[in-house]
Amino acid sequence: MAVEAVKLDAPAGVEIRGVDLAQPMNDDTFAIIERAFDTHGVAVFRDQQITPEQQVAFCARFGDVEINHNGAKFGLKGNPEIYLISNIVKDGRPIGTPRAGPRWHSDMCYAKRPARATMLFAVEVPELHGLPLGDTAFANAAAAWDALPSGMQRRVEGLRAVFDFQGRKRGRPISAETIAQYPPVEHPMVRRHPNTGRKSLYVMRDDCTGVTGMDAGEARTLIDALADHIIRPEFVYRHRWRKGDLVVWDNCTVQHRAVIDYDLPQRRLMWRTTVKGDVPQ
Ligand code: OGA
Ligand code: MN
Repeated sequence: MAVEAVKLDAPAGVEIRGVDLAQPMNDDTFAIIERAFDTHGVAVFRDQQITPEQQVAFCARFGDVEINHNGAKFGLKGNPEIYLISNIVKDGRPIGTPRAGPRWHSDMCYAKRPARATMLFAVEVPELHGLPLGDTAFANAAAAWDALPSGMQRRVEGLRAVFDFQGRKRGRPISAETIAQYPPVEHPMVRRHPNTGRKSLYVMRDDCTGVTGMDAGEARTLIDALADHIIRPEFVYRHRWRKGDLVVWDNCTVQHRAVIDYDLPQRRLMWRTTVKGDVPQ
């Protein structure tokens, strides 16, 4: 069966059909996948049955696979590249991060080189009487840029925002080491996609704490207005998970958030891998 990229009937996302991620993949097939991924921001693969090694191998096609800063705690034993997102408790201890990003964000935007891509493989999907829970929502920040009035586009283009790891209201205390690892950084508020050249807004309420050269009040107003614009319903695709889904998203083109509408005994387990990215341009 030949690989096929079918755009989702949604503001972001493409389904890749005809691929078994447990098998080796030739370069032509990967080129089709990568082009679809770069264009649509989210690529969905259904009905996959893969091992951790196979996920890491596929992830590595997109670039260098990262090890999460919390990997020692929630990395899969023997496969430290795989980070567990889960609400499952084993022997009284959580096996993974239970709440990965309940608020809108883009992965590692607080780093000098934010992650190019994040990949989740659905091992267990919570459900209530057959109703799947624990969706992930994606907002298309490229479409949001295109839809801005030209006056606002002129106002933001060329501006840089300050991204601060401590801006996000994280549930757990952050270690001094992690804080030292991620000092505040500046990124352009309008990013160019490294492969397609398409522009995206790169602004979020929690992580952006200011705009370079702008007074604090004006900056806050601008950040909030742009961040809220990106997550308007017309730019959002909400992925409803099925066991065996593998979803990979582009942290330049889309923002995302976890919908936490489930709790034990409804179990959720995702294998997460991330790909290193470049300095945003
Ligand atoms: C992440 C994340 C969302 C989810 O892994 O970076 O935000 O639904 N996950 O688990
Ligand atoms: Mn995330």
